[in-house]
Amino acid sequence: MARVSLQGITRKFSNVVAIEDITFEVPDGEFWVLVGPSGCGKSTILRTIAGLDSIAAGKLYIGDTLVNDLPARQRDVAMVFQNYALYPHMTVEDNLAFGLRMRQVEKTKINNQIREVARSLNIEHLLKRKPKQLSGGQQQRVALGRAIARQPKVFLLDEPLSNLDAQLRDDTRTELKQLHDRVGITTIYVTHDQVEAMTLADRIVVLENGKIQQIGSPQAIYTRPASRMVATFVGSPPMNILPGTYLDGNFVIERQSLPVTAKIKQQLQPTQGQSFDLGIRPEQIKIAIQNRTGDRFGSLVVEVNLVEPLGREILVRANLLNSYLALSFFASADWQIYKGDRLTIELNLEKLFCFSPDSGKTIYPMSSNG
Ligand SMILES: Nc1ncnc2c1ncn2[C@@H]1O[C@H](COP(=O)(O)OP(=O)(O)O)[C@@H](O)[C@H]1O
Ligand SMILES: [Mg+2]
Repeated sequence: MARVSLQGITRKFSNVVAIEDITFEVPDGEFWVLVGPSGCGKSTILRTIAGLDSIAAGKLYIGDTLVNDLPARQRDVAMVFQNYALYPHMTVEDNLAFGLRMRQVEKTKINNQIREVARSLNIEHLLKRKPKQLSGGQQQRVALGRAIARQPKVFLLDEPLSNLDAQLRDDTRTELKQLHDRVGITTIYVTHDQVEAMTLADRIVVLENGKIQQIGSPQAIYTRPASRMVATFVGSPPMNILPGTYLDGNFVIERQSLPVTAKIKQQLQPTQGQSFDLGIRPEQIKIAIQNRTGDRFGSLVVEVNLVEPLGREILVRANLLNSYLALSFFASADWQIYKGDRLTIELNLEKLFCFSPDSGKTIYPMSSNG
C-alpha cells in the first residue's frame, strides 16, 4: 500500500490543457473521489497516475518513489474502467486469478484470495462461467474483483459503476466501501455522480475545466462549498441560486427582498447597488406557517411549477412570483400542493451563502477548506 502524491501535474493534448497544476496527496489507505462534470479532466488524472498518459509538468509519487518516468506495469497500480474488458475465453475464476498467476503466487494462496474476493462481491456462484454468460453488472463485478484480487498498491477506478442499473449500482457501491474498509488499499475513484462521491469518499476533489475547485471531506464540501460551482454540483436538487442586489439593508431579488443579517453586513460590508449571487439549499426553505421575520428568516412569494412526491416528503419546484427565477424546496408529505399555487416560503438566513457573481467564489460565510 502507498500514498499517492500529485505535485503540480499538468497534461496537454497538443495545445489543449486537459489538466492544469493538479496538486493533492492521498494518504496511504484512504479512499478519495475525483468528481466533476464530463470533460473536467478526471480520467486524464487517473491515466496519468496509472502511467497510461505522459506528464507535461509536475511530479508524481507513489509511496516514496518518483514515478514520472516509470512504465505503467512497474507502478503496481490496478485500474478499472467503465468499459472493462474481461478475457472472453477464460472463466470468471481464471479471470480473477490471472494477475496473481502472472506473478507466480502460490496456488492455495491464489484460491483463497479469489474465494474471498468473489464472496465479498457476490460472484461466488459465477466462478465457472465465461464472461458472455454474465449480465453487464456481473461482468463489471468480475472486472472489479480481478483488480482487487491482485492486491495492488493503488486502486484506480474510472466510473466503474456507470454501466449498472440503479439497484445494482447502489449495492455494488456499498460493497466497494465495505471492501475498502476491510482491505484498505489506497483508492482513487472517478465519477461524475455526486451521490457516489458523497457516499464513498474519505475526501472529495471537485474539478472543473481541468482545475481543482475544492478538496474536502463530503461534509465540508456540502456545508462549506468554496464556490458556486461546488455548491450547485454537490447536492440534489442543487443549491438554489438567487441573483440579488444590495439596497438599504436588503437583498433585492427581482421585485422581492430579503433582509441582510447583521453577520452578513459585518463580514461582507456590502455597498449600495452591489450584486451578489445568493445561495440557499432546498432543505433550508420551508413553507411559511406564521409570519416570522427579523434577523433569522426572510420570506419570498413563489408560484408552484411542479410537485414531485418523494414518499417521505415532497419536492416543490417553483418560480418567484411573476419571474422566471426558479427555486426548489421540500415540503412535508401531508401538504396538498398543486401547480399554480401561490405560497409564501421562509428562508433560513443563517444558512444563506453569498457568491461573487464574477469569480463564483464563496464570499460569505468565509471558511477554510477541510
Ligand atoms: N486523447 C485526447 N486528445 C485530445 N484531447 C483529449 C484527449 N483525452 C482527453 N482530452 C481532453 O481533455 C479534457 C479532459 O478529458 P477527460 O480527462 O477525459 O475528462 P473526464 O474524464 O472528466 O470526462 C477534455 O477537454 C478532453 O476533450
Ligand atoms: Mg472520464
